[in-house]
Amino acid sequence: MKVLGIVGSKRKKGNTSTLVQETLKAVRETETEVDTELIFLGDYDINSCHGCEGCKDTFKCIIKDDMQKLYPLILESSAIVLGSPTYFYNISSDIKAFLERCYNFEVFDDDDRSVWMSVNEAMGGKYAVAIAVCEQDDEKDMGFTAEAMTKPLEALGYRVVDTVKILELFKMNEASKNDKALEQAKKAGEKLAKTLKLRKQIELKLKTLQ
Ligand SMILES: Cc1cc2nc3c(=O)[nH]c(=O)nc-3n(C[C@H](O)[C@H](O)[C@H](O)COP(=O)(O)O)c2cc1C
Repeated sequence: MKVLGIVGSKRKKGNTSTLVQETLKAVRETETEVDTELIFLGDYDINSCHGCEGCKDTFKCIIKDDMQKLYPLILESSAIVLGSPTYFYNISSDIKAFLERCYNFEVFDDDDRSVWMSVNEAMGGKYAVAIAVCEQDDEKDMGFTAEAMTKPLEALGYRVVDTVKILELFKMNEASKNDKALEQAKKAGEKLAKTLKLRKQIELKLKTLQ
C-alpha cells in the first residue's frame, strides 16, 4: 500500500511541507508495510482543466503536461495527504489545478448528470488527510482552505479521515518548532495508517468468509 503526500506550497522547506512530511512519517511508523512518496506540485508543470470533456470515455486526461506523470501515482496510491497553505482564504493555485485535473476520475451518467461516481469509488474507495496552514490566529482567516480540499477529495472517492487546520504559522521553518502543529499532523498520519490497516484486515477476513 502506498500513501502519496502532495505539497501545494512552492516553499519546499515551508510549513505545509513540514506538516505533510510529519504525517507521512507517522504513517510509516504506525504501519511499516505502507510506503510513502512525497510530491511537491511546484516541481510539476500542471495546467488548469480545459473543460474539454476529452476524458469522458476513457477516464484519462488528454492534456499533455506533467500531470500525466502524477496520474499513475494517484492510481496506485491507497491514500493521499493533501497539504495547502492558505492563499487569500483559499487553497493555493497549484492545489486548485491539481484537483481540477483529477476531473477525469469523475464519471457522469450519459442522460442524467445528477448521477455520477468517481473511478476511486467504483474501485472500492480510498482515504485522505487534508492539511491547511495559515498565518492568522483566527480560523475565519483560513477561509475555505480546508473545505476546498475536503469537498473535491470526497467527490473523488476519498474518505477524509482527518482534516488538520493549523493557524499562526508564517515564517518558513515555523512548523518544525511548533509541537502542537506537529502533534496534530502526526495524529492524522497515525489515524490514516490505522484506517489502511483496518481496511486490509477486513479484505483478508472477507476472503476467509467466502
Ligand atoms: C499569496 C499569499 C496569500 C496569503 N493569504 C493568507 C490568508 O488569506 N490568510 C492567512 O491567514 N494567511 C495567508 N497567507 C500566509 C500563509 O498561509 C502562511 O505564511 C503559510 O504558513 C505559508 O505556508 P508555507 O510555509 O507552506 O508556504 C498568505 C500568504 C501568501 C504568500
